[in-house]
Amino acid sequence: MNFNYECCECGKVYSGDKMMYVCPDCSKKQVPGFETRGVLFIRYDGKDFERVAKRVFSKKGRRDFFKYKELFPVEDDKNISGLDVGDSPVHFFDEKTYLFDDTRNPSCSYKDRASLLTTAKALDFGVDTIVAASTGNAASSLACITASLKGLRCILCIPENAPEAKITQMLMFGAEVVRIKGGYDDAFELSLKLTEQKGYFNRNTAFNPFTVEGKKSASYEIFDHFRDEMPDNIFVPVGDGVIISGIYKGLEELYLAGLIKKVPKIVACQAEGSSVIADSFKRGGKIVNDPDADTIADSILVQSPRNSIMAVEYLKKYGGDSVKVSDGHILSAMQELASGSGVFSEPAASCAFAGWKKYREDRKKEEKDLIILTGNGLKDIQSAQRQVAIPEPVKAEDYLSKV
Ligand SMILES: Cc1ncc(COP(=O)(O)O)c(C=O)c1O
Ligand SMILES: [Zn+2]
Repeated sequence: MNFNYECCECGKVYSGDKMMYVCPDCSKKQVPGFETRGVLFIRYDGKDFERVAKRVFSKKGRRDFFKYKELFPVEDDKNISGLDVGDSPVHFFDEKTYLFDDTRNPSCSYKDRASLLTTAKALDFGVDTIVAASTGNAASSLACITASLKGLRCILCIPENAPEAKITQMLMFGAEVVRIKGGYDDAFELSLKLTEQKGYFNRNTAFNPFTVEGKKSASYEIFDHFRDEMPDNIFVPVGDGVIISGIYKGLEELYLAGLIKKVPKIVACQAEGSSVIADSFKRGGKIVNDPDADTIADSILVQSPRNSIMAVEYLKKYGGDSVKVSDGHILSAMQELASGSGVFSEPAASCAFAGWKKYREDRKKEEKDLIILTGNGLKDIQSAQRQVAIPEPVKAEDYLSKV
């Protein structure tokens, strides 16, 4: 579908003819290392969207990107990865609670939704190299999706402390990995220079507008699954605020097209030690970053969330809420979720489950809840091993004599 860019801060609209990253006006206020200024939305004509959406959602079949592709700005189908992104299962957890299991995507995280769209757009725009800065999942996801496409080189700028399992994924998928002496901000600045100086297509989260856009696809799947019985609350783990914004954008589109009667309440779940978006929202919207942020959940450990402006505005606009949980609760929730549902999720994803547990304690009414599980537990085995002890070997006959 044809689209324009619209700045999430000043509302200015720009033609979608060429690649644009951020609003030229608002980005003048950018302070390096802080929240991205002038993040752009992808906007379609409302009437066109409504017409196409009604047709798309009247069809049955797999709830994957190919079903919804007309609701995205992809020009050439050849540029879409054939890997199985999306069509994520919804598991029943208890009478009123469901799990949206995004741990089974090709690289085992929600990030594949954004990588699928950004790689398709890189190829649509005729670029042969894509670059990204990431602490882990976005980079391993980009490496994975790029490996499935012909003619796209992938360069990843990662901080030196990126987790080993995720670096191993990147290397196995054949990406060029630049492990920077420094943190995420240094990696981010290097990736921007590669884009400015070499013209490489940049996939940085909340900088490339197709990241939020790609991440809206889960909302379509949720609607397709629940239809007239949408959940009252959706629990989303939050770091930079791109996943939550993508989910809101998808729901907002469905709402404006008349397909859902209201936008469900989204509860932003953060770790107590890394809670800029939750705190800024509770404070009424003023973004205050936290240079000392720290949590065991590496994927949501963020000092200056890049998409905080959009995420907090969405929470305010649609009556969202937030909840914070301790690292101890995240770890115990991870184990409870795995042993109680069969879904093994990494600490960041388990934060949504821990957030749901805490939020539920303070609620009187029985409501339908959906918890978004965004990354697989095998990505961070060390954290999981804090919860369990590998048993000492025993002789089979000794064991048999005791049972
Ligand atoms: C597994 C997982 N969950 C949640 C998040 C949070 O997403 P966002 O940074 O868009 O808020 C991330 C981001 O890296 C992630 O990898
Ligand atoms: Zn602007």
